[in-house]
Amino acid sequence: DFQYPHTFVLLGASGDLAKKKIYPTIWYLYRDNLLPKNTKFIGYARTKQTLEDVKEKSKKYIKVRPGDESKLKEFWEANDYVSGSYDKRVDYEFLNQHISKSEKGPVANRIFYLAVPPTVFEDVTVNIRNACVSIKGYTRVIIEKPFGRDDESSEKLSSHLAGLFKEEQIYRIDHYLGKEMVQNLMTIRFANQIFSPSWNRENIASILISFKEPFGTEGRGGYFDSFGIVRDVMQNHLLQILSLVAMEKPVTLNPNDIRDEKVKVLRHIKPIDLKNLLVGQYVGNPNGQGEEKLGYLDDPTVPKDSVTPTYAVAVIYIDNSRWQGVPFILRCGKALNERKAEVRVQYKDVPGDIFEGHTKRNELVIRVQPGEALYLKLMSKSPGMKFDLMETELDLTYSMRYREADVPDAYERLILDVFTGTQMHFVRNDELKEAWRIFTPVLKKLETERIKPLPYMYGSRGPREADAKLAESDFKYSGSY
Ligand code: BG6
Repeated sequence: DFQYPHTFVLLGASGDLAKKKIYPTIWYLYRDNLLPKNTKFIGYARTKQTLEDVKEKSKKYIKVRPGDESKLKEFWEANDYVSGSYDKRVDYEFLNQHISKSEKGPVANRIFYLAVPPTVFEDVTVNIRNACVSIKGYTRVIIEKPFGRDDESSEKLSSHLAGLFKEEQIYRIDHYLGKEMVQNLMTIRFANQIFSPSWNRENIASILISFKEPFGTEGRGGYFDSFGIVRDVMQNHLLQILSLVAMEKPVTLNPNDIRDEKVKVLRHIKPIDLKNLLVGQYVGNPNGQGEEKLGYLDDPTVPKDSVTPTYAVAVIYIDNSRWQGVPFILRCGKALNERKAEVRVQYKDVPGDIFEGHTKRNELVIRVQPGEALYLKLMSKSPGMKFDLMETELDLTYSMRYREADVPDAYERLILDVFTGTQMHFVRNDELKEAWRIFTPVLKKLETERIKPLPYMYGSRGPREADAKLAESDFKYSGSY
């Protein structure tokens, strides 16, 4: 298909996601000649502005290396901006005419990226369907979360979408699925005889999947407050990682075979109970990272009495023969002490200890970011005359072994997948449904009972009580997480 004309329409082109993430991404793909030669880009949004304004706004986020200038000029020449409403069909008819202008030849494909607020989502999709689908090729739509805010609203959205497009046309982005180390999970598990046979309840004590961010909701309080960290990060990014860590081996690498296994493992999880969830909310720190950091409730876009969690730990059990009884601890938070996303597979204590309690547990650490790495903690004799034990690591840190350029950005990879029609790293409808089934009851409980989140200081490791939760879930500390 790559020889035919393609149009990439970015709806919500005046928004934050567009300027910070999508424009830079399509520029990198264009710069590296990864897209079909004949690709045109059209930004669409309500804001009345010109392409010059779009350029200006995204400038700060677009990396241009010396020598790239003429390519960048070419990129912007392949771009256009159209302003229009989200709800009026005539505006989409105009957009359609605009797209058609550059679609010479018998075949032409269209991709619509919906970086729009959830409130206009239904209007936008109906209008694309009615006025903008390609009559000479494929039409694919890329959609961003939130995919609803509970099981009911997500179901409603799904049936709305299913009435307009086939599942093969819908690309639900969870950008964590585009991250190098998340994509590496299947290889680590299924291409290594060392790990495959030990990846179960007989050998593994617990698994910790965490996401930490060193900044608060600055500027995004409005959106964030009606969602909270459980919907923003845990129900999607962390649960997706969990399903890749825990699923059975797929029959083949076919995208549907993989997603079948991801759904199956989710079906073995019961809805989370409130006793298995701990929530926190950050408070101000007069002296955080050298300056005063405001608390969540100090954000002017957040209601003063908000009980929305900005931190959460959930302990999840998978009731199947591989995992029964093994705690999967999902932990995420904003305004913490560091930026880090990682998976820690903690093996059980060695039975029949002859080292007088000096052995520590083996741990396989898959660091998603920053600095992709895979390392295995193990016990070794400390080199020298004495017969002492020490904990050490087999360490594959990507920056030491590979070039930076070998690790593409998640969005780049995923957008390219849409051009090539690869749905492996996108969320299927039934996965989404299972994810909401697991989280909806506890979210409702948090909200109806207005459960007060535990306070933690901006820049800290999170609420103190969280460590006890980890210890209770058979996760033993060594070092600091
Ligand atoms: C987004 C969340 O999905 O992921 C944000 O909405 C979060 O709240 C972001 O900051 C984190 O993404 P990354 O790639 O920076 O880890």
